[in-house]
Amino acid sequence: MLTETATTTAEPAFRVDNYVVNDEDLPIFHDMEFEDINQLDLDHPGANDPEYRKRRDYIASLSKKFRETGVITDVDYTDEEQGIWRHVATRLEELHQKHASPFYLKAKKDLGISTEHIPQLSEMNRRLKQLTGFRLAPIEGLVETRAFLSWLSYRVMLSTQYIRHHSRPDYTPEPDIVHESIGHIPMFTNQNFTDYSQFIGHGARIANDKQLEELGRLYWFTVEFGLVEDEGDIKAYGAGLLSSYGELEHAFGDEVERRPFDLEQVINTDYNYSDMQPVLYVVPSYTELKEATRKYIESFGK
Ligand SMILES: [Fe+2]
Repeated sequence: MLTETATTTAEPAFRVDNYVVNDEDLPIFHDMEFEDINQLDLDHPGANDPEYRKRRDYIASLSKKFRETGVITDVDYTDEEQGIWRHVATRLEELHQKHASPFYLKAKKDLGISTEHIPQLSEMNRRLKQLTGFRLAPIEGLVETRAFLSWLSYRVMLSTQYIRHHSRPDYTPEPDIVHESIGHIPMFTNQNFTDYSQFIGHGARIANDKQLEELGRLYWFTVEFGLVEDEGDIKAYGAGLLSSYGELEHAFGDEVERRPFDLEQVINTDYNYSDMQPVLYVVPSYTELKEATRKYIESFGK
């Protein structure tokens, strides 16, 4: 919670804390106005496939319906979509055994995310709610940074439900259900990681434009591409790594510089969306990541 306190030189201008978000505390999803977020770029593998576009529009309509009703509609995935999932999830599972953080591996099991079928947001929500009070809300595409991050302050992640195009099962230029449920969602069973995400959300709601850009970098180098120390070893917890075998293999290769996490350095380091990442940051633990971020967000109020 953002709590106003008296400003002194020793004390932060306000304190950033975690808080439980009950159903009645949530902003009204109906108030979320998103225009044109179900658009495919021209270089998207499915851009010229009318069948794929029709299917995307249908799944988008389910996400839109959620905003009116507050109820998630499960997607009845086709055999072809399930086949894409099995292909990607099976190959990723092998690499995860080698490179993913032990916490992540256990979380994937606890959430029932298997190589067999695409998990439904509603199923994962039931489990997340019990474990960390976190929620997923369906969304039909990529939304702008401040809106996306701000929802984390309510312990909510906006999550896509569609899957990538069958012509390139190993690639997607945007988030899809593979990226969300294999990359992001398992980590929300970790209380410290979830608290950390909520801090980022608090920050996004009050950040000026420069601070928002810094938060975007912090998110990128942790939530998307983060590495963590694990009993003398280094493991992956970032969604961009865990949902892409190319990125995951690359992260542990010789061309990548794996640096100890330094918040000041991270928020001042640019990244490129489309290239393989040349530098990655290793956090000692999710608790330390959370506490460093608490101080940083509290500095926004000064
Ligand atoms: Fe992501």
